[in-house]
Amino acid sequence: MLILGMESSCDETAAAVVDSGLVISSVIRSQTEFHLKYGGVVPEIASRAHLEAVDSVVKEAIAQSGLELQKIEAIAVTQGPGLVGALLVALSYAKGLSIASNIKVVGVNHVQAHALSPFLSFSDFRAPDPDFPLVALVVSGGHTSLFLVKSETEFKTIGQTVDDAAGEAFDKCAKLMGLGYPGGPAIDKMARGGDAKAFNITRPMWRKGLNFSFSGLKTRVHDIYHQNSMDNLPDDAQALKDLAASLQEAIVDVLADKLYQAASFYEVKSVVLAGGVAANSRLRQVVIDRLASSGLNVLISDPAWCTDNAAMIAYLGGFQIAKNIGILDLNAEPKPRWPVDQ
Ligand code: KG4
Ligand code: ZN
Repeated sequence: MLILGMESSCDETAAAVVDSGLVISSVIRSQTEFHLKYGGVVPEIASRAHLEAVDSVVKEAIAQSGLELQKIEAIAVTQGPGLVGALLVALSYAKGLSIASNIKVVGVNHVQAHALSPFLSFSDFRAPDPDFPLVALVVSGGHTSLFLVKSETEFKTIGQTVDDAAGEAFDKCAKLMGLGYPGGPAIDKMARGGDAKAFNITRPMWRKGLNFSFSGLKTRVHDIYHQNSMDNLPDDAQALKDLAASLQEAIVDVLADKLYQAASFYEVKSVVLAGGVAANSRLRQVVIDRLASSGLNVLISDPAWCTDNAAMIAYLGGFQIAKNIGILDLNAEPKPRWPVDQ
């Protein structure tokens, strides 16, 4: 089934054409440059940038697919969770396109879509079929959650952060260390030459259930940074690399351990790692080393589908249409807070 996916929940305007799980085209226009100087996403700027980009992004995705719009059988759009003004842009555009072209629209949960992104096929890569039930860890700038996934459309939250998301911790600590925004990729790069044992950073909520807490890491990183007068150091100083590596290892340890604990508790054979932070090179390596060696089938999104994209939205939309779940009418509204369990 040919589906046009659309995404505008945060700071990426994206559209994609997906045919029964195979990505035919994908366009992602990032707004990072507009938010850079503020050190984070500014909702007002995000909405405006989505408005300016949405039409050309959708047209580009359709053009790249080599297909006529008339061939598209349905539109899948992110309905939530996310920034309300940002969500409204793709949702309104999808409704307009639906009226103009008589194509039905399905509203997709962005976080559920992240969890299914390892099952996207693209170019020469043919993804395996999901082996349900599975446990998924979705870890991004806005979310850090563990799900028990019974089918493409049945999710149960089994753990989540009680404060900051892991991506938020990377971003805030990177800002404290003067590494700019977004912080995750900067810490990942910086940590490569660092000693992860150089600084002692306590693993938050270690072995205490399946919830996470990352807000305390900021204070610890702030203290280490200032106690060691790191603000006077050159950008490539060893101490900065060591701090980046120590922080990254603490976050990675907690994420990998809780994913393993959840898989053991729920006795699943497969685990998924997805979301923006799943692009982290150390996290990918540790999850593969520790979990795959324990006999689990480990599925990690390709880096191309870790950050926000519309291909994952189209993929999930296809299953919803088959099951008649979430078909939208013109009164449909964005759902800025939308737990996956509903
Ligand atoms: O999924 P995403 O694009 O947007 C949200 O839905 O939040 O995730 C963005 C988050 C940011 O916090 C960013 O710093 C983090 O993913 N991120 C990384 C890496 N690449 C992106 N964190 C750690 N290491 C990376 N390589
Ligand atoms: Zn996301």
